[in-house]
Amino acid sequence: MTTNKKIIISHSGADNYQKALELSNKINIPMQQIETDDSICLLVTSSGLQIIAPAISKKPFELNLTKLISEFQKQQEIKKHPLSMAIGLKKKKCLIYDMTAGFIKDSCLLAYLGHKVVAIEKNPVIYEIAKSAQEKIKDTSPKLDLSIVNADSINFINKHQKPDIILIDPMFPKDKKTALVKKPMQILQAITTGENQSENNLMKAALLNATCKVIVKRPKNGPYINDKKPELQITNNQSTRFDIYLTSS
Ligand SMILES: C[S@@+](CC[C@H](N)C(=O)[O-])C[C@H]1O[C@@H](n2cnc3c(N)ncnc32)[C@H](O)[C@@H]1O
Repeated sequence: MTTNKKIIISHSGADNYQKALELSNKINIPMQQIETDDSICLLVTSSGLQIIAPAISKKPFELNLTKLISEFQKQQEIKKHPLSMAIGLKKKKCLIYDMTAGFIKDSCLLAYLGHKVVAIEKNPVIYEIAKSAQEKIKDTSPKLDLSIVNADSINFINKHQKPDIILIDPMFPKDKKTALVKKPMQILQAITTGENQSENNLMKAALLNATCKVIVKRPKNGPYINDKKPELQITNNQSTRFDIYLTSS
């Protein structure tokens, strides 16, 4: 793993020792007692993975996709979400690759809209957190057509079927407003600190492989990736902009 942060694995109760040991061997992260410094601990519990990051939050963090999906269900206007609008409201079920899966919130929205989504995440810790959260929504209704892959998405897309649509959400550059970033995003940033986000290469690979369009999530006033002007843009009232590049001929 290439990260500057100290990441450790621990477990709650003797019952979870074996699972924690297997995870430790799988992703090559040491098992240790939880510390109170700025390390990040992946805590294996009977109900899934929790993240203890004292430097970010006093409370343990658990990625709760059940709550996220029930929020989608409550929102009558989910089709007016800027990402839904960027995808378009065609009835056709599209194959979508999310090249920067992270905590798979965007992937869940796309799958909730009825598409087949492959969420690709290269960081093994983030992948395990997302996978553990996904296990819990396997039987929720509607059943999401969502799979998660632990791979570098540039390698992955060169070896697999070309998707209709590709989503890229590279880490936003840190600015003076970093303090405003929500806690889950701070955890994601802390775990992936020091990794090359390779957004220019992600963009090049996406444009070569998507048969319909590439959607790039950007800070509202951020520069275009590779200085490439999109054909369309959708901006919400908050901090995000979606740049849309049409690739169909
Ligand atoms: C800003 S986060 C994405 C957040 C995500 N959209 C969500 O809904 O939670 C960016 C993620 O992309 C991942 N990433 C960056 N480059 C990648 C690559 N080449 N292949 C796969 N994942 C990558 C990072 O590890 C990080 O987890």
